[in-house]
Amino acid sequence: MSLLAFCEWLAATRGSIALHESLVMYPLIESTHVLALTLFVGLAVILDLRLLGLALTRVPVTDIATRLLPWTKVGFTVMVITGVLLFYAIPVRTYQSIFFRVKVVMLILAGLNVWIFNNRVFLRVGEWDRDARTPKAARRAALFSLILWGGIIVAGRMIAYNWFDCDIQPQPAIVNFVAGCVVPPPAP
Ligand code: HEM
Repeated sequence: MSLLAFCEWLAATRGSIALHESLVMYPLIESTHVLALTLFVGLAVILDLRLLGLALTRVPVTDIATRLLPWTKVGFTVMVITGVLLFYAIPVRTYQSIFFRVKVVMLILAGLNVWIFNNRVFLRVGEWDRDARTPKAARRAALFSLILWGGIIVAGRMIAYNWFDCDIQPQPAIVNFVAGCVVPPPAP
């Protein structure tokens, strides 16, 4: 079963139809998605600004990281749960949204950036914990984090604007390829 066929199957389920047609639930889930963003990305930005030496430079990095991490994890968990529900409500449109695909690529890169920071850079935090100017690798991770989460937010916002709609053909070949549109052959 292709991913598109799976999304078409998902879209035909009672739960997806009910969520898609709900007057209250969908806006409620989307609002929660945005609210969780303020918690998750908002706190991540505070740590990134510290690592870049732009804010809280007299506070040890570990103080900020350990105090914010539990709330960041709560925000991230709510982001993912509400995001999956938003996907479930309109699976085919979202799966074929170029903005959603770009967002998923950036989510993977952002996750990789966090993994490298936690498992490489942060292991030696004891050497630079109180320094206003952190090592180059820490500043680089913070910069990537700001760029990627900023891009994820913009891409998330753009999903609603289905500029490259598979249902509106003809589209440029590159759009059909990137969005995964299935274009019927022209009538003979
Ligand atoms: C964890 C980091 C995430 C961030 C920072 C994020 C951010 C956003 C933002 C800012 C929007 C626009 C909301 C609006 O316009 O009202 C959005 C929409 C959306 N997000 Fe996320 N998101 C995240 C994760 C996810 C995940 C994991 C999924 C699904 C697997 C997802 C699926 C969606 C969908 C489908 C929409 C479009 C809703 C619509 O406009 O109809 N998001 N996201």
